[in-house]
Amino acid sequence: MILVTGATGNVGAGVVRAVAAAGEPVRAMSRSGEGAGLPKGAEGVAGDLNRPETVREALDGVRALFLMPGYEGQRAVLADARAAGVERVVMLSGKSAAVDDGNAVTRYLRAAEDGVRESGLDWTFLRPVSFMSNAVSLGDQIRKGDEVRVPFPGVRTADIDPYDIAEVAARALLSPEHAGHVYTLTGPQSLLPADRIAVLGEVLGRELRTVGLTDEEAREALGAAFPAPYAEAFLRFFADGILDESQVLPTVEEVTGRPPRTFREWATEHTNAF
Ligand SMILES: NC(=O)c1ccc[n+]([C@@H]2O[C@H](COP(=O)([O-])OP(=O)(O)OC[C@H]3O[C@@H](n4cnc5c(N)ncnc54)[C@H](OP(=O)(O)O)[C@@H]3O)[C@@H](O)[C@H]2O)c1
Repeated sequence: MILVTGATGNVGAGVVRAVAAAGEPVRAMSRSGEGAGLPKGAEGVAGDLNRPETVREALDGVRALFLMPGYEGQRAVLADARAAGVERVVMLSGKSAAVDDGNAVTRYLRAAEDGVRESGLDWTFLRPVSFMSNAVSLGDQIRKGDEVRVPFPGVRTADIDPYDIAEVAARALLSPEHAGHVYTLTGPQSLLPADRIAVLGEVLGRELRTVGLTDEEAREALGAAFPAPYAEAFLRFFADGILDESQVLPTVEEVTGRPPRTFREWATEHTNAF
C-alpha cells in the first residue's frame, strides 16, 4: 500500500494514477478525502498534514509515502510513519532547495528536506523546476483578450509537466533503488515565456501577443497573487537571478525510460484551462 498526500494536486493526482496503473493499491489523501474520479485500486482518505493525528490511521499497512513539503505536522507524521513500519518517503521539493538564500520558499523546502533526512526513513527528494501547469494562471488574461502580460520575460526555464514528476515519484515509491537520491527534474526544452505563449496560441488557434512586465510591475502582480514573502521569493529567483532553471537535464528519461513531455503536449491536454 502506498499513501499519497496532496492527492488532489497537480503532482499528487498523477502519482495516484501512476501507482494505481502499476497495480499497487494506493490511498489518496486530501483534507476532504474526496474519492470521486480516482482510478481503480485507489481509495480516498481524509487527512490534514498540519494535524498529524488525522493522518495516523491512514499509515497502517503503508510501505511508502509520497509527501508534500512545508506542513507543520511533518515531524510527527514522519515519526508516526516510522512507527507504522513505513519504509520510505518520496518528497516533492523544488530545485530552489539547492539555493541557500533564506527566502520563504527556499526556507520551507530546505526545512522539509532536513526533517525527512532526520526521520530515519529511506528517502528520495524530487526537486522539479517550475511546473508547466503554472501557465493556468494566464487563463483569465487569455479568456479576456489576446494580450498576455508576463513577469520575467527574459528568463528561460525548462518547465516540467507535473505528469513527469508523478512518473518519477511512482518509480521511487515502488522500488528501493531510488533511496538516497536527490532528483533535479526538468522538462525537455528551455523556453522563454513568449515561446510558451506562442505555443499556447497555436494550440488554441489564437493570435496571442506577449507583453513583458518590468520587475516593478512583476512585484505588483505577484504581490496581488501571492502572500508577500512568496512574491519576494519569486523576485529573488527570477529578477535577481539566484535560481537558474534554464538547463535541460536527463533525469526524467533516466528514471522513467522515456523523455519528458513538451509544453505543446501539456497545452494540448489542458486547452479547457484557457
Ligand atoms: N508550481 C511550481 O512551479 C513548483 C515548482 C517546484 C516545486 N513546487 C512545489 O510543489 C508543491 C505544490 O505541488 P502541486 O502543484 O502538486 O500542489 P497543488 O496542486 O497546489 O495541490 C496541493 C495539494 O496539497 C493538499 N493540501 C493542502 N493543504 C493540505 C494540508 N493541510 N494537509 C494535507 N494536504 C493538503 C491539497 O489538497 P486539499 O486542498 O484537497 O486538501 C492538494 O492536494 C509546493 O510545495 C511547491 O513548493 C512547485
